[in-house]
Parts: sequence; structure tokens; C-alpha cells
Amino acid sequence: MTTSPAGQTHAAGRRDVEAHPVQVGLLGIGTVGSGTFHVLARNQAEIRRRAGRGIEITMVADLDTARAKAVVGGRAQVVADARQVIANPDIDIVVELIGGYGIAKALVLEAIAAGKHVVTANKALLAVHGNEIFAAARERGVMVAFEAAVAGGIPIIKALREGLSANRIEWIAGIINGTTNFILSEMRDKGLDFDVVLEEAQRLGYAEADPTFDIEGVDAAHKATIMSAIAFGVPVQFDRAHVEGITRLQAADLRYAEQLGYRIKLLGITRRRDQGLELRVHPTLVPAKRLIANVEGAMNAVVVHGDAVGTTLYYGKGAGSEPTASAVIADLVDVTRLHTADPDHRVPHLAFQPEALADTPILPIEQVVTAFYLRLQVADQAGVLARITGILAEHGISIDALLQRESAEGESKTDVIILTHDTVEGDMRRAIAQMQALPTVLAPIVSLRKEELA
Ligand code: HSE
Repeated sequence: MTTSPAGQTHAAGRRDVEAHPVQVGLLGIGTVGSGTFHVLARNQAEIRRRAGRGIEITMVADLDTARAKAVVGGRAQVVADARQVIANPDIDIVVELIGGYGIAKALVLEAIAAGKHVVTANKALLAVHGNEIFAAARERGVMVAFEAAVAGGIPIIKALREGLSANRIEWIAGIINGTTNFILSEMRDKGLDFDVVLEEAQRLGYAEADPTFDIEGVDAAHKATIMSAIAFGVPVQFDRAHVEGITRLQAADLRYAEQLGYRIKLLGITRRRDQGLELRVHPTLVPAKRLIANVEGAMNAVVVHGDAVGTTLYYGKGAGSEPTASAVIADLVDVTRLHTADPDHRVPHLAFQPEALADTPILPIEQVVTAFYLRLQVADQAGVLARITGILAEHGISIDALLQRESAEGESKTDVIILTHDTVEGDMRRAIAQMQALPTVLAPIVSLRKEELA
């Protein structure tokens, strides 16, 4: 053995590597669980060099024990009862991949109470019950790591919690649901309406048999809620998020948006304002020239704007077996490196020290400030446009662009498309109600929010 300082470091490192591996218990071995098992086995040597110790999945709980046994092939003990994993004193880290708020919550809290560190991909659980779970983990001195909960393989939690910690973060906007981005890409490419594309997506296996959480924006809102808490140092507040999905989108609006130089994306947005924070998920017009507007198919992307760094963009696969396993295993490496550290010296769960979390309110949607796209089907008569623009002016809403379609042959109605400058949502809602009441407005007004993301 060499006696140089470098040699001593190397020797000490080797002693660590020789220490017994960290033992992991997996709760649920479906798509992400089996990816985690395979990637960990395949890259064990590389991961060991990074973590300083081996990381081994030694126990797996899954109700489908036959499927679990087929995945692990005798390399880990398989049980049906997750509580056997939690009760095993040899297990250091419990990985929760069951999902949902039900049994997963009970098991995570029990694992914490048993002194296990927890790694989870469960965004629904953390967005809704995160405050309780993090408090319990702090109390017990264990870590709850959740990189896989937001945007799958993209290390956005790491970026927000650590990489950008010099910044006062101003806003985040993300395509954080692959299913809906796939549907929107298909609607735009093929000029089809939502229902038709959803059916195709289900047939091809891109969308779940019950895609409600995806298409109604709930999955994206879970993820936006977690990012908002970490970016601004506030508790998770899913119940305050404004959530709209893509089910009412019509092909015509994607087409008009395109003609005006925009694409429609389902964005999760959280933004710092003087009066509080915005936290919202909804279809959004984004300038077609922005990188995020060109994220197609099931890919995810998150844009973060910090005061020092400016705008940064993170792009990658937001779901899938090995991309999500990549995030789960990164957490396992982090927990392995830090589990002997004083709990006060670890990265706080929500990035900010727990006692420094702020009570900044989440603003109600009526107080949110955005630009708007409006589509009105109107009677093609003199004075109609003047009346509409007059109502907008009465509410202090400034028009940015206006497009009027030629009436079709023999038709006496036409579409008017209006893009506005930034306005307070409450004012826009009142203006829309007034315009809708005009006898010359012939169909429900379509309104979509527009963000420049400059
Ligand atoms: N259902 C999610 C999506 C993947 O479509 O992006 C898991 O969060």
C-alpha cells in the first residue's frame, strides 16, 4: 500500500468498497421495479464505484409472486406481504413502487417508523401527503428520496434541490406527462380530435386503460406541486393547484394556434408573483420557436428560470422501465452515500431547511396573470368585431393579434381568433361572460392560456 495522501485516500475508499452491500427491499416489481432490478444488476460494478458500497436488492414484495420470481430469478427473496420486507432488520432502504395514496402511504409511514430510508416514485402520494411523510422522516432521522416521482429519468429534483440552489427561482414550466404530450403531438400531426387520438393511443398501449389522471392533468399537477414546493421552499399543496386537462381541446384550435406561430402543450406551471405563487396545469399556447414547443411524442421537458442562471431546459424520457429506474437508482446511490451522515447535514427533503419553509399563498386562478387565446364563432355582420373588442377594452384587456377567417361559401358566420396581452384571469372571465351573452356570438367561446416563456 502506498503512503502518499492520495494512496491513503485510495486505500480508505477501497475499505469502504469492501464493506457489506446496502440491502434494498422492493415493494412492487412491475415496469419500474423490474427495470430497477435489471439496471442495478447490470451496472453493479459502476454503481459500487460511485456509491462506495454495493447496493443489492435482496427482498421483493409483490402480490404477483410468480411474476416477481420470474424477474429476480432466485437472486432475491420474494414475498407477497410488503410488511415482511419492512420488518426485516437487514433491509436498509425500502423502495416503494406500488403507487397511489392507499396502501402505499401506510407502507411508507411504517417503513419510516421502522427506521428504513425510503425511495419512492410515487408523485401522487408526495403531492398529497408529502408534508406528513417528510415530517415523519425527519422525526425518525431517515431520508425519503423521490427523483423518479417527477419527469421519470430527467434528474429535475436533483437540479432544483442542488444544482440551482444559488438561485432565486422565478418560474418553472414543464411538459411532465408523456401520455398527453403524445396525444397532442398526434392531434397536431394528423389534424385529429382528442377522442380519436386517445383511442389510438390506448390501442397502441401508450395510454393506460384508465387514463383519467393523465388526460385530466392530475398526474402533471402532482409533479408540478412537488416542483413548486422545492423551487420556492413551501409545503406541498396539491389541493391549491388549478388543474385542467386536454379532453376539451379541438383540432381547430391546434390549427389556428399553428397559423399564429404557436403550439399547444399541456404545461405544469409554477411562478413566483408579488402576491403569492401560481400553481397550475392546463393546455397552453407556447411560441413554436421555443425548444419546449418542439418536444414531441411521449418525451418530457422542464424549463426552469432562476435569477442567476437564467433559463435552463431539461429534456428526456419521463416514463418507462429503465429511464425511471435510472432515477430510482440515483436515489439509492445518494441514500447509500449519505446514510451515515448526520441527518442535519443531508439535503432537506424540500430543498429548504424545514424551519425555513415559507407560508407564501398559492394564488387562486382568478388572480393568475397570463395572456389568452380566444376563439369566437360569430355572426358575420357589421359591428360584431367592434362590440367584442369594446368589451375587452372595458375590462382593460389589450389585444396582441387578431385573425378573422373568411366565411365559408354561403355561410353567414365566421371564426374570430384573438390573442391578448397578459391580463388577470378574473378580468378575462368577466369579459368572456359578457361576450358570450351577445346574440351575435353563436357558440361557446374557446379560451386557452398563452405563455411566452421568454
Ligand atoms: N403516466 C405518466 C405519463 C408517467 O404519461 O407521463 C408516469 O408519471
